[in-house]
Amino acid sequence: SFPVIVLISGSGSNLQALIDQSLQGKLDIDIKAVISNKADAFGLERAQKVGIPTHALDHKAFTSREAFDEALQQTIDQYQPKLVILAGFMRILTETFTKHYEGRMLNIHPSLLPKFKGLDTHQRAIDAKEQEHGVSVHFVSSELDAGAVIVQASTKIETDETASSLADKVHALEHVIYPLAVKWFSENRLTLKYGTAHLDDTPLSETGIL
Ligand code: GAR
Repeated sequence: SFPVIVLISGSGSNLQALIDQSLQGKLDIDIKAVISNKADAFGLERAQKVGIPTHALDHKAFTSREAFDEALQQTIDQYQPKLVILAGFMRILTETFTKHYEGRMLNIHPSLLPKFKGLDTHQRAIDAKEQEHGVSVHFVSSELDAGAVIVQASTKIETDETASSLADKVHALEHVIYPLAVKWFSENRLTLKYGTAHLDDTPLSETGIL
């Protein structure tokens, strides 16, 4: 089946959603390895539990961002994946790295992009008095959180909402839409063309999905 690599930095609940769906036969992917820039990321345990090889690549052990990305690329490419999945991977990537995986690397970001790029998105959405908040899956480009959006899901911000309650609601949405986007890609239905995401050759913006 379809070889993929998942990059994480933390809990790995999105990784778990991908593992679960593939074990249930809903998603035909083969997670060749999980790579974390943090050795204590809980997601590494989730992978080991189901026999997926793991790598911890500590970014602090490298003298530059370029050197880290080069080692990361080598670690990934030994598995010859068809897709690289960023699932809570909290490192900014170099242009060389993002170019290398152009059109074959996805990210999930906890906001309704182009709103709230970067960190602390749930609190910022509340502070901005947004009525809605959500999550986006997008192709990774060299500009942070600015690549072509594939699919989004949203939830209402209640009057008593906290960053933590909002994060919980967004996480639940993430676990639905990320496996869906990965499924499309693994079925060769999802492509990046002229900087926009297409599903079955139709721009996502024209499908009614986005
Ligand atoms: C997710 O909410 C994901 O959207 C976010 O990190 C969390 C990882 O959770 N990603 C980013 O903020 C990327 N800039 P998980 O480790 O439980 O999957």
